[in-house]
Amino acid sequence: MTEEVFVSPRKKGKIAVLISGRGSNYMAIHDAILAGKINAEIALVFSNKEDAPGLKIAQERNLETLFLDPKAYSSREEHEAEIIKEIRNRDVDLVCLAGYMRILSPSFCDEFKNCLMNIHPALLPSFPGLHVQKKAIDWGVKYSGATVHFVTADVDMGPIVIQAVVPILQDDTEDTLSERILKEEHKIYPEAVRLFFEGKLEVRGRRVYINR
Ligand code: GRF
Repeated sequence: MTEEVFVSPRKKGKIAVLISGRGSNYMAIHDAILAGKINAEIALVFSNKEDAPGLKIAQERNLETLFLDPKAYSSREEHEAEIIKEIRNRDVDLVCLAGYMRILSPSFCDEFKNCLMNIHPALLPSFPGLHVQKKAIDWGVKYSGATVHFVTADVDMGPIVIQAVVPILQDDTEDTLSERILKEEHKIYPEAVRLFFEGKLEVRGRRVYINR
């Protein structure tokens, strides 16, 4: 069987970000765009939470925002179908999950195969899921970090684009470790998006090659 190969497009791209909370990761991406480091624009900041602080800041940054209340739909699929329509209407090339706290259905993941990214505050495949900074401390691992990965239906298990390693210190609390990991997140997420739109990411099965 021939292996499926995906190469990211080299173009000025459009991004949709999906958030549920403070949105510091999409802001780091936006800052990198404004600094001329990423050849793209943010076409939409979407949230499933009306009061997400990141949504208000997006408006202050003159970014287009959209809130669609999941409770207004009879099923997850209907809610997602509307999100897909809004994203497609804007000719988006890359969807970035940035603290989006809803599990996406397999059909949503398939719709945006190879153009749906997420940032996770641990070194995947260790510590998938929630509260992973605390879990890493409790487990006693010496290193954690952050992972940018393509999203597949298998939650937190898609092909890994970039990782950053953060040592765990003896006196770390969930807060101090989260803070140091977040600093790395703000570096590697914009970097992954930059590489995507420079046509430098090649996905072969589980592996993402970075063609410099
Ligand atoms: C980050 O820690 C990210 O890794 C995780 O959710 C958090 C979102 O933070 N997926 P922010 O909303 O981008 O500030």
